[in-house]
Amino acid sequence: MLLLLLALTGCQGEEGDAGRLPLPVPEGMKRSADPALLAQGERVYRRHCAGCHAADASGDPNWRKRDTEGFFPPPPLNGSGHAWHHSTEVLADFIRNGSPGGKGRMPAWAGKLSEQEITAVIVWFQSLWSQQVYDTWFEIQQRGR
Ligand code: HEC
Repeated sequence: MLLLLLALTGCQGEEGDAGRLPLPVPEGMKRSADPALLAQGERVYRRHCAGCHAADASGDPNWRKRDTEGFFPPPPLNGSGHAWHHSTEVLADFIRNGSPGGKGRMPAWAGKLSEQEITAVIVWFQSLWSQQVYDTWFEIQQRGR
């Protein structure tokens, strides 16, 4: 199932060892989340992100294909895309700065959302990831990428 998942998620060539099986996540490092932070994240998401990334964070069905102007449509953030390949820091930077070099349709949120709101929205969409996706993500973080 994991290999299938990795095969389906794309990001070709981006991670050299994407086919490696994750180490088990140690007990006590299982995902936990503060309900107040999650509620805040959901509010931020509904207000600022849902319009593009869809109410359930499934993104645009054609997110893998550039549109006629050469831009990528909004990808899923619910664990079915490749957002989980990125560390929290990389995700936060993406949200702060928008599409790299301004070449894309993701707006920059620095100055519009506080750091706390950015953290909250990441925690919220991570809460949609399956345990398996989360564990794989967690293991990648442990390896320090
Ligand atoms: C105007 C539409 C739009 C809005 C509003 C928007 N996004 Fe995006 N987002 C995009 C697009 C389009 C991309 C893909 C950008 C690219 O490839 O250049 C993207 C990419 C992303 C990524 C990178 C995902 C990945 O798999 O690498 C993250 C994370 C993200 N958005 C989070 C958010 C959050 C959080 C909000 C709300 C605060 C938000 N977006 C609001 C359009 C939008």
